[in-house]
Amino acid sequence: MRTQYYTASSVDGFIATTDHSLRWLFQLGDVNDTGYPQFIAQVGALAMGSSTYEWMLRHVVRPGGKTGAPWPYAQPTWVFSSRALPRVDGADIRFVQGDVRPVHQLMREAAGDDKNIWLVGGGDLVGQFHDAGLLDEMIVQIGSVTLGAGRPLLPRQIAFPPLRLLSARAIGSGFAELRYEVPHGDR
Ligand SMILES: NC(=O)c1ccc[n+]([C@@H]2O[C@H](COP(=O)([O-])OP(=O)(O)OC[C@H]3O[C@@H](n4cnc5c(N)ncnc54)[C@H](OP(=O)(O)O)[C@@H]3O)[C@@H](O)[C@H]2O)c1
Repeated sequence: MRTQYYTASSVDGFIATTDHSLRWLFQLGDVNDTGYPQFIAQVGALAMGSSTYEWMLRHVVRPGGKTGAPWPYAQPTWVFSSRALPRVDGADIRFVQGDVRPVHQLMREAAGDDKNIWLVGGGDLVGQFHDAGLLDEMIVQIGSVTLGAGRPLLPRQIAFPPLRLLSARAIGSGFAELRYEVPHGDR
């Protein structure tokens, strides 16, 4: 069981524009050509921050709209927010706030020994898990764009010791997929 940050980033380290647009991302390739199908098959629990959840509501679920899709994840999802957010009918979504450690314990129990925990983002929420020594891997699809500014990939310093590169592969001309192991101190 590993806790993984799987995301796409611009070359200059942003996962969304300042105004939370992902338009730059969807021109770059088909998600089924990346490692995503294999990745999601091994996920047993997800966590995301409220901006990411609200992006999903606006762009995927669109409650009340005619073109909306169902919530895409069968696995339980923990959404971090200090606010009361709309729910999605039929989705296993658990709203939480504050310390990530007890939430990680619940996610671990839900995922079981065989499945991984997916930290969807954003970057600071993943940083909170890292601060608690709970981030094991980063899998980043580096998209072939720069954004100049935006929502950060991971606003933390992980340098001494550095990340350990596990693999790097090109996915067409649109992505480079990098997998890193995150060093742990004593836990
Ligand atoms: N490129 C990709 O593959 C990718 C992947 C994931 C996300 N994204 C996008 O990147 C953007 C990320 O947005 P973001 O940087 O604002 O991050 P975010 O994690 O999605 O949202 C941040 C918000 O979550 C809430 N939050 C975070 N930690 C909390 C805690 N411990 N307790 C309670 N609430 C907490 C806070 O808002 P409140 O308390 O006010 O609710 C905080 O402002 C989104 O637009 C998303 O769609 C892109």
